[in-house]
Amino acid sequence: MLADRTTLVQFLIEERRRHPGSSGDLNGLILDVALACKAIANRVAAGALGGVLGSAEQTNVQGEVQQKLDLLANDYFLRSTEWGGHVAGMVSEELDEPYLPPAEYPRGKYLLLFDPLDGSSNIDVNVSVGSIFSILRAPQPGADADPGDYLQPGSQQVCAGYAIYGPSTMLVLSVGTGVHAFTLDPNLGEFFLTRQSIQIPSTTKEFAINASNQRFWEPAVQRYVEECLKGRSGPRHKDYNMRWVASLVAETHRILTRGGVFLYPRDSRDPAKPGKLRLLYEVNPVAYLIEQAGGAASTGRQRVLDVVPSNVHQRISFVFGAREEVERIEDYHSQTYEETSSLPLYGTRGLFRTTPVG
Ligand code: AHG
Ligand code: MN
Ligand code: MN
Repeated sequence: MLADRTTLVQFLIEERRRHPGSSGDLNGLILDVALACKAIANRVAAGALGGVLGSAEQTNVQGEVQQKLDLLANDYFLRSTEWGGHVAGMVSEELDEPYLPPAEYPRGKYLLLFDPLDGSSNIDVNVSVGSIFSILRAPQPGADADPGDYLQPGSQQVCAGYAIYGPSTMLVLSVGTGVHAFTLDPNLGEFFLTRQSIQIPSTTKEFAINASNQRFWEPAVQRYVEECLKGRSGPRHKDYNMRWVASLVAETHRILTRGGVFLYPRDSRDPAKPGKLRLLYEVNPVAYLIEQAGGAASTGRQRVLDVVPSNVHQRISFVFGAREEVERIEDYHSQTYEETSSLPLYGTRGLFRTTPVG
């Protein structure tokens, strides 16, 4: 096993050798994140025996009820990464405000942003969940991060990844040189490289969307899904399959494994929420991985990684996966905007007016 497999540590050290003079801080931070993920994997795997199922009976800043595991996973992320001197601050889905490590620990040169437990609605039903993380450079290395420091476009990420807690635990990441997947050997407690330079096929016959929101979708999304559903006899001339796990990590992992396209579009349910998924610690890291794997990631109107964030917990619409499908969906957005812009609901002053983001 050890002779013919690369460990995560070995992989990271070999990547670092491409950058002579690098301090090793990034690797240190990634390994601290990997440790948090292993600790979370352990608790997830114990299920009811680990006493972590069920609600914590409190809500986060997003107004969502937190599960016990959301809080536990958040704590593992903070404890495993705050002491090392690699970060100048952190943002978590579960914390209202950005987090500064306790004063006794040195400030580092990176910012860590994370969704400690993604797909919380799946915890109690024993379906795959995950953790998502994004690493940015701190504009003021060595000093406390300011809240505005996190508002960098996703194209500035130096590393992004996720852990998936499924039948096996995997860590999938990119440091800007392709997407690589590692599988946890639970006996050794070590991640081993099991897939290298993952590429997403440019076309697909599988889409993922929560169809229960259909009545709230914009015309472009209505059209795209309707055409898929018409199958072989419709304008796409092929039958489509559909999946919805309700765990972004699991959907991303499926698309990186066998292709597909995912949509969590903006809709008219709540005008204050342009989309459901959070830009900084869900959408940006996934978009980075998808582009690194040759796919596309869009708000429907623009490339995700170009969006300049305005708020650390901001939500945005998200379409990603097979390049040709994403381009088609973007095209439908620009076409239907032209066709419907004279209608009150979709025009420049309507509910679905075109705004710079999402
Ligand atoms: P989280 O558990 O971190 O709040 O994220 C859940 C997200 C995401 O993982 C998934 O794609 C989406 O919510 C599912 O939304 P619906 O419940 O609307 O299907
Ligand atoms: Mn999430
Ligand atoms: Mn979460």
